[in-house]
Amino acid sequence: MRITARSLLLMICITSNSLFGLSKEHELYLLHCSGCHGLKGEGVIGVSPQINRIIGYFLANREGRKYIIKLPGIALAPLSDEQLADLLNWVGSQFSSPSFSFQKFTKEEISKERKEPLWDIEKERKELLKRLPGNRVLSRSWEQFISSASPKQ
Ligand code: HEC
Repeated sequence: MRITARSLLLMICITSNSLFGLSKEHELYLLHCSGCHGLKGEGVIGVSPQINRIIGYFLANREGRKYIIKLPGIALAPLSDEQLADLLNWVGSQFSSPSFSFQKFTKEEISKERKEPLWDIEKERKELLKRLPGNRVLSRSWEQFISSASPKQ
């Protein structure tokens, strides 16, 4: 068999645990979330809300954590409970503002909450915001997402 540079690179990628030295959680984020939310969670105009800098408000609150797990893009992701817990813990530590500490997600918590995904997200989020800190920041980030998502007349 002739080993070319390209086949050698492919072999390294397949046999190593991680692509290009990224952590497995980072890889999961790139594969399952970044297409919509952007490489750094900055959001994509008309497609998805920004998640960096705002996710900490949700993670520090019990109801907020449930909301996150029950979002269809998360609850229905083709990932095991354990992978999802690792991924959300990574997202929380990478993207949340440094002033927020949060309790790590466990696979048990994920397994329980993802069984009932949210359908009326906007209504749920509105209700939730009444009980969360950072209400103004969270309202503003959502308004930006909604206004750019609605068709311009
Ligand atoms: C197909 C596009 C898509 C994918 C893939 C996706 N999301 Fe989302 N995400 C959205 C949209 C759109 C919303 C707004 C709520 C809704 O309509 O679901 C959202 C909402 C969110 C929110 C709540 C933001 C807020 O301000 O309420 C978080 C956090 C989030 N997503 C994280 C993730 C993570 C982590 C992944 C990867 C497992 C992911 N999303 C995958 C499109 C996506």
